[in-house]
Amino acid sequence: MAKLPIITLPDPILRGRSAEIEQVDDATRRLIDDMLETMYAAPGVGLAAVQVAVPRRLLVCDVSDKDEERRPLALINPEIVRLGDRTRPYEEGCLSIPDVTVEIERPASLTVRYVDREGKQQELEADGLLATVIQHEMDHLEGKLIIDFLSRLKRDMVVRRFKKQARGAM
Ligand code: NI
Repeated sequence: MAKLPIITLPDPILRGRSAEIEQVDDATRRLIDDMLETMYAAPGVGLAAVQVAVPRRLLVCDVSDKDEERRPLALINPEIVRLGDRTRPYEEGCLSIPDVTVEIERPASLTVRYVDREGKQQELEADGLLATVIQHEMDHLEGKLIIDFLSRLKRDMVVRRFKKQARGAM
């Protein structure tokens, strides 16, 4: 396994729509393993493939507690089947936007259909943090980021800050 570099704001790759994965093969499984290693090292609870500059419809997550056994999940071509009526606010961060958090209110439960690492169709019911993480990562597949939930003024401020930082690093 290998740790991959995580791209950050304002990298335009983050704003594109990720493409379907047509075939789940060894390369896909290697990417999943690398993404999990990258996510655990960050550390983070979720990562979309586009965040490692691979604009494909794939996300990994693990919401287990630190002292618990790991429960890695990989969702390929995920689709929401059902969203719950109740909502849940959560202060979300993003590995592609370091040091920024945004409180976002999303459906508290959902059912998602996806293809697993063996290429099999699966359905998963999720609530709590897992439901939040899945929705956050699925937003990435559409090029949507947590800062899009801010007012335009606040969003522009964050983007400007990251553009300035990116210039400074060059
Ligand atoms: Ni994110």
